[in-house]
Amino acid sequence: MDGKVKKGFLWGTASAAYQCEGGWNEGGKGESNWDQFCHGPKNVKGYTGDVAADFYHRYKEDIRLLKEGGHNTLRFSISWTRILPDQSGKVNPEGVAFYKDVLKECRENGITPNVTLLHYDIPAWLEDLGGYANPIFSDEFAKYCKVVFEQFGNEIPLYVTINESTHNAYCSYLTGNYPPNIHNVQTLVQVCYNLVVANAKAIREFRKLNLTSQVGIVHTTNTVQILKDTPEYRIAQRRGDLFKNKWVTDPAILGKFPEDLFPLLEESGIDLSFVKPEDLDIIAHNTIDFLGQNCYTRALVKPYESGETNYYPNNVGAGQKTIEGYTVKGWFQTDVDPNTPKNAWSREIYPKTVYDMLMGIKKDYGDIPVYITENGHALYEEPDENGEVNDDERIEFLKSYLEWLIKAQNEGCNVKGYYAWSTTDCYSWINGYQKRYGLIYIDYDHDLKRIPKKSYYWYRDFIKEHTED
Ligand code: BG6
Repeated sequence: MDGKVKKGFLWGTASAAYQCEGGWNEGGKGESNWDQFCHGPKNVKGYTGDVAADFYHRYKEDIRLLKEGGHNTLRFSISWTRILPDQSGKVNPEGVAFYKDVLKECRENGITPNVTLLHYDIPAWLEDLGGYANPIFSDEFAKYCKVVFEQFGNEIPLYVTINESTHNAYCSYLTGNYPPNIHNVQTLVQVCYNLVVANAKAIREFRKLNLTSQVGIVHTTNTVQILKDTPEYRIAQRRGDLFKNKWVTDPAILGKFPEDLFPLLEESGIDLSFVKPEDLDIIAHNTIDFLGQNCYTRALVKPYESGETNYYPNNVGAGQKTIEGYTVKGWFQTDVDPNTPKNAWSREIYPKTVYDMLMGIKKDYGDIPVYITENGHALYEEPDENGEVNDDERIEFLKSYLEWLIKAQNEGCNVKGYYAWSTTDCYSWINGYQKRYGLIYIDYDHDLKRIPKKSYYWYRDFIKEHTED
């Protein structure tokens, strides 16, 4: 496959505050739920993001590397508790100054910032009050977003309210591997709802300021596919799509929940008394300007057979052979294609998913601008005897996904940017530091030295060769 993307396309990489910043208690920052979890007894593996890739102190070096790598954008997130360290709502000037410096550095290096307001780390005090499950969550989140919009205004051209609300909710309230480590389907549904409301309330604050910036949400659409075309499989596919995607993307883009969602949830025994008409009104009037899509793989489903509702991630790596997946009682469960390759964390490698996803968005939502806000390949890796990291497998992965992306744009999909996950190696939630995604290697044993991997140079050349003049 050949082809180029249109001029003006955003090419970059992505990261998130807790995973790359470090400086967890520096500069007046307050404690987040991840600080609390990682420092507590439930963190059985013992890894923390206390130092991570130390972006907090080394952002200048990292942003310079991005420029040298031919990037014109960077996706990063703001740590809520760096801006508002405690429940008083008092703004931390040092936190604001840090992000102002990062933004200045981006500007001076020709890097367009794409900034996420919530990438999994909420204040510890809010977590103690029930976190996402507490109905006050959406108001607290909107208050924080208002501060960010007022402080940074048009300095940030692309704002993302929330990263992967459902994935976060499934890990936190179903699998229970993310804080607050709960397994409760009723609470899970309420959390997903609260996050939809929180997104809309944040957008309402954004619109009040009449900024020239744009606001979006980041979702991870695992395009839901089936291996058999029967009526039962098609029902499972629709239910999988509701569960994985549509209860985030429909309200965010169309301003309403899918019509079949609430009846199905009630049929499954969920008490929906938390749904309030005033929330639905806010959702209806506050939709996004663009959609961010994290794209790693597709979701293969089949009709429900047995088992309780759960999500089974692989946070073990090569030591765990089971395929990551879902069971949603009465709705669907994960299917496996034995013929496709899987990575060491048992995730299916299926490059065409980016094309199928973009085509699906075009069909369901028309021309809404889309950015691929994450796409990447995890590897165990270390430098060779020459000190080089030859990640040919990652290059193959990125190349194959990008070819499908270019094809989709050439066929009329409104995809406007691409971010490889991740900028540097960083903390992988629960997995720790052996699971690496970066285009830049971090030598954790030698003063966090940055070593651009082979993929970093490959990406620089790919950008040059595949962008229209
Ligand atoms: C996405 C998240 O779900 O996947 C990132 O937005 C995350 O924060 C990435 O790091 C990869 O996940 P993991 O668990 O393999 O590190």
